[in-house]
Amino acid sequence: MTVKVLFVCLGNICRSPLAEAAFRAEAARIGLDAETDSAGTGGWHRGEPPDRRAIAAARRGGVDISHMRARQVRPGDFERFDHILALDADNLANLRALRPVGSRASLSLLLDHVPGREGEPVADPYYGGDGHFDITWRDVTEAARALAGKFAREEAA
Ligand code: 4NP
Repeated sequence: MTVKVLFVCLGNICRSPLAEAAFRAEAARIGLDAETDSAGTGGWHRGEPPDRRAIAAARRGGVDISHMRARQVRPGDFERFDHILALDADNLANLRALRPVGSRASLSLLLDHVPGREGEPVADPYYGGDGHFDITWRDVTEAARALAGKFAREEAA
């Protein structure tokens, strides 16, 4: 079985590309078969690569995200993906509003999957400095480990 996972933030140039990259790396590490993508609830950056500070933070973490391109969430995402992970509460609320009736995709906050960090947002680093992007990378890496481990256990059950 392939688990299909979508990560969603506002612009799809900072947090969700990092979350997708961290999750892909962790899925590969533990042998979890996963299809992944990321998207933004906003469309201002569609077609653009990730923010150069996000590319640099991922590179410091050993992952290349420079090939990624931003896109906006679309109705078909609620059919295509099993799990849609929002990076913060505003984006989760927007996803709930966009979700077509009858969609079976599960919607949740990314850090809800990290024991002890339930309800926390992954803070938006867009108006911050390089250090903020390293915090984002650390947060999404922690979430990726918890999430991939959870999906792997579910697959094994
Ligand atoms: P992201 O960060 O949601 O983590 O990709 C942002 C990127 C762009 C904007 C806001 C947040 N923006 O307002 O353009």
